[in-house]
Amino acid sequence: MTADEMKKQAAYAALEHIDTNGIVGVGTGSTVNHFIDALATIKHKIEGAVSSSIVSTQRLEAHGIQVFDLNSVGQIAIYVDGADESNHNLQLIKGGGGALTREKIIAAASDKFVCIADESKLVDILGTFPLPVEVVPMARSYVAREIVKMGGQPVYREGFITDNSNVILDVHGLEIMEPITLEKELNNIVGVVSNGLFAMRPADVLLLGSESGTKTVYAK
Ligand code: 5RP
Repeated sequence: MTADEMKKQAAYAALEHIDTNGIVGVGTGSTVNHFIDALATIKHKIEGAVSSSIVSTQRLEAHGIQVFDLNSVGQIAIYVDGADESNHNLQLIKGGGGALTREKIIAAASDKFVCIADESKLVDILGTFPLPVEVVPMARSYVAREIVKMGGQPVYREGFITDNSNVILDVHGLEIMEPITLEKELNNIVGVVSNGLFAMRPADVLLLGSESGTKTVYAK
């Protein structure tokens, strides 16, 4: 079974968590693309979606699923999104697709966060995957110097602009022993819009596609 088949398996398993007649928060990425396709099979049972990126909005609308502005819907019952890494507390690294800020906003505004991934994403310690940090363009060099002082190696994601018109620094070389502390420290650097650590608001459930079926993981 390929990683993509495992992602698809987890994505379809997420349908069991969807309440009827509600609005679904939708993340971004290849796993979420499978979830959007899955959601289309029950679109008559939901009111619509709130989307974390332009690409997810386009895919949702192509399926005929109505996309609402978060400001018009208030608190959301459920948010479904992928991850680049998850630890056993369901604290995540996200933002490989660059949609971390909008993803984090919707996760914060949701009662339940269901994370979907293939089983390779579950790790003991976060940080092998470079941590994305969204930065206001004029602050890029300053923020990079501050991150170097913290022990990280920031790499500018060249040619990439976020949906919020900002840039991304991918921070290598971190072994993240205290995810909440690091999430707060990065947020405190002037010029940082948000960072890809989802530790203060972790996932509530992790659905992992695997050779032996979808595994459901709850925080330790
Ligand atoms: C996008 C994300 C994605 O959820 C993350 O990169 C995982 O992507 P994929 O499902 O393609 O493996 O955070 O900003």
